[in-house]
This record gives sequence, structure tokens and C-alpha cells, in this order.
Amino acid sequence: MTKTPITIARGDGIGPEIMDATLQILEAGGAQLDTEEIEIGEKVYERGVMTGIEDSSWASLRKTKVFLKAPIFTPMGGGFKSLNVTVRKTMGFYANVRPCVAYAPYVDSLFPDMDMVVVRENEEDLYAGIEYRNTQDVRTALKVISRPGSERIIRYAFEYAKANNRKKVTCMIKDNIMKVADGLFYQVFQEIGEDYPDIEKERYIIDIGAARIAARPGDFDVVVTENLYGDIISDIAAEVTGSVGLGISANIGDHGAMFEAMHGTAPDIAGQGIANPSGLLLGAVMMLVHIGQNDVAGKVHNAWLKTIEDGIHTGDLYKDGISARNVGTDEFAKAVIERMGEKPEKLPVRDYGSGGGALKLPPVRERVTQKKVLDGVDVFVDWEGAPDDLAAIINDNLADGLTLKIISNRGVKVWPDGAPETFCSDSWRLRMIGDTATHTQIAAQLSKLHEAGLDFTGTENLYSFDGEAGYTKAQGE
Ligand code: NAI
Repeated sequence: MTKTPITIARGDGIGPEIMDATLQILEAGGAQLDTEEIEIGEKVYERGVMTGIEDSSWASLRKTKVFLKAPIFTPMGGGFKSLNVTVRKTMGFYANVRPCVAYAPYVDSLFPDMDMVVVRENEEDLYAGIEYRNTQDVRTALKVISRPGSERIIRYAFEYAKANNRKKVTCMIKDNIMKVADGLFYQVFQEIGEDYPDIEKERYIIDIGAARIAARPGDFDVVVTENLYGDIISDIAAEVTGSVGLGISANIGDHGAMFEAMHGTAPDIAGQGIANPSGLLLGAVMMLVHIGQNDVAGKVHNAWLKTIEDGIHTGDLYKDGISARNVGTDEFAKAVIERMGEKPEKLPVRDYGSGGGALKLPPVRERVTQKKVLDGVDVFVDWEGAPDDLAAIINDNLADGLTLKIISNRGVKVWPDGAPETFCSDSWRLRMIGDTATHTQIAAQLSKLHEAGLDFTGTENLYSFDGEAGYTKAQGE
């Protein structure tokens, strides 16, 4: 078997100890790896590299396209950037995959049958980082959801389910409130789901979905969701497994993938030889499946399960009555190596099949061009006063062909016929509609508002696509 090149980073704190243990176990399992090491984290930050990774290290990541990463120290503040975010964004890792499995009774969990995977979109949503202070009192953060972005992550979830013999994919969204953005994500889920007739599809509104994960995680198989919801539910799911310390995370894109443990550098126990290497090891097992060394993945995973089952535990897992021996990092690695080829008797045996390596997704579907019509414009203005007074100023300063339809404040209609109870901030939305609106009219309208002494802080054009409005109504409209 030819060796697969991979990039590794030993990281900070307990990183080097758990990486050494992991690599020893992988070698004993017969993994065919050609490792290249890069330096990331604390020492690189100390050299003044704000991202925690040297420019020269990108070449290795671009070449091997597979990154096994130990935890690193992330400095707070001071302009330093999170290395994880930098690597994820630079390499285009659009999928964050987090298997959440209970290992009861060896690890306490209220849900011994839990074995679910959260597939989280990694690039869009509120994480696009587009935020504004619009007025003195109002700030906004833009939620970005694209059709191709949604399609890629949803396709990934279904293909992952298919390749891993999973029976159900659940989509979690809040499309009852965010009808346009989350509505698109769910619509794409329904469309892509049609290509997978053998997989059960399910939909949850994120709030009740998150509650269900906390209360009945055994009901779930694969869950696909947007970035922010995924951030929250993957932590809930990891927590209810009973051991965040065994949690793993894979970041996957078209140009490579990164595998790591969820835990951090554990500075309190660094250098003592007592850290548990299991998180990084299980991340490495996912990596072996990704590079097509499925038989080794199964062998290593089963040897690890047998070790846990035999009660050979590091201090973080050790429990009187359940554990047989409290061991250090090296001894734990030796115990796993001694059990190579054995299978667990009580915990479920893992079988990764023969596998074809990284999931190969079909290209994003061809785009069908829709008829786009400009209906009008929402203009946001910074103003203080009563809604009727603002309406009077606007109606005296309308561009030809545009009419003022509504004024809203914080999304609630305040004119015409607003409720006296509505609290108004200093940021107002004026919705102007035309029978045949044009960009020239909108530009003329902005000039008129400026001449009338109004500070317009932003605009959003209102478009319809194939006759369907691409914008929401204000509450109460
Ligand atoms: P942590 O996960 O490092 O530690 C939390 C607790 O869990 C500590 O008591 C620690 O001893 C224990 N622990 C963690 N991993 C363990 C292991 N493998 N074996 C035995 N015990 C383990 O979280 P903390 O203290 O919040 O963060 C420490 C540092 O790690 C920070 O600088 C943080 O930025 C960084 N970090 C890095 C991550 C990454 O590179 N992916 C992820 C999370 C945190």
C-alpha cells in the first residue's frame, strides 16, 4: 500500500503528548502515512505572526490536503486571530462534522444509546461577520444564506449518511421566523432529499430540536443545520454524551480536510504524561476513513473500544467500580496497541467497510435563471420623532413614480395605523414601491431625502423572482 501524505501539528500544552501517543497507535494499526510536520500555535504567535501559522506552512496543507491537528493555545485579544478560523476560511472547509457518541457505562451518560452526527455549515450565516452600527442606538448583523452554500452542506449530510449506513437526516432551521433565509435552507433540503429515497427525512424548528437533542439524543442520526444553530447544538450533543473530552471535530472542504479533538490544550496537566489521547485518536480514525484506510480505522477504533471496556482509563475517565487501572498517556497507548486486532464485547463493534476515501460530491446543480423584477426599495434613516411626522416629510419628498407604503421600526409597522404601544428606536425603515421601479428613481429618491435633511443609513432593493417577492413584510403589515 502506498503511503498517504498528511500534515500534522503537535500544538501546545498536552498537544505533543497526545500526538505522540496517537501516531504510535496508528503505526501499530498499520496506517500507511507519510507525515509532514508544521508548527502552529503559541510559538508562532510569539514570533508576531498574528494568525498563528507561518505562510510557509500553507504549502504543506495545500500539498497533502489532510491535516491532523493537536489543540493549540489561542491568545485572547491583542489583534491575534483564531488559527482554526483562519485555516477553515483559507482552505474553504465548508462542512464541520461532529460525531457525538455515548460510551456508557465507562463514561457516565444519561443516554447510553446515543450515536448521532452533527453536520454544520461552516462558512455562511451570521458568521460571515457583516455587522453594522447603523445609528447611535441600533446595530445589525447580516445573516447570509446562499443556495449553493446550502446545497453543498445538505448534499454532504446525505452523502455522509449514505456512506456511513445512517438511516435518517434531520434538518434544523427557524423558517417560521426567517422565512426567506432559513426558508431557502429547508427548501434546498427538500429538493436534495429527493435524490435519497432510502434515507428518512425529518424537519425540526431549531428551538424544539435543540431541546430534543438534550432530552432524547437517541432519536437522532445525522442532523444538518446552519452555522450558528450547528455551533450550539453540536456543543449540546457533545455535552450529553457525557464526555466532551472524547468529542471530535472534522472540517471538510473540496480542497482538503482537518481532523482534531474538541478539547483544548489542558494547561493544568500539560507535561505530566497523564492526558487522555482518545479525542485526537478518534479524530485520526475519522481521518483514516477520509483517506480510504478504512480497515485500519476499524482496527484502531475497535482496539480503543476494547481498551475502554477493559477498564484501562486515564485519570479524566477513571471511576472506582468501573475502571480497572488508572494509567498515563503512554501506558494507555500501549494498552490500545496490545489490543490491536481485538474487538469490544459490550460496546458496539465499529465496521468502516472498505470505503473509497473522501466523499465525492456531485457538482452543485446548474443554476436556472429566474426573472428578476425591481419592485421598490427599503431606505433606512436615522431620525428621532413620531412616525406620522416622518411620514409627512417623506410624502412631501417622493421621487416620481414611488409611493411610501409603510414605515417600520425594529421590524414592526408604525405607519400607517401603527400601535401607540410600539417602542421606536432611532433607526426607521421606509418601504417605497413603484409600479415599474427603476434604479434611477431610487437614486432620485435618495437625493430628495438628503435634500430634506434626512440621514439615510442604508438601502435594500426589493426584488421579485419569477413573480415571488424576495423580501418579507413588516410585522403588522
Ligand atoms: P481544555 O479543554 O483545554 O481543558 C478543560 C479541562 O479538561 C481541564 O481541566 C483539562 O485538564 C481537561 N482536559 C482537556 N483535555 C484533556 C485530555 N485530553 N485529557 C485529560 N484531561 C483533559 O479547555 P480550556 O482550559 O478552556 O482551554 C485551554 C486552552 O486550549 C486555551 O488556550 C484555549 O484557547 C485552547 N483551546 C484550543 C482548542 C483547539 O485548538 N481546538 C479548542 C479549545 C480550547
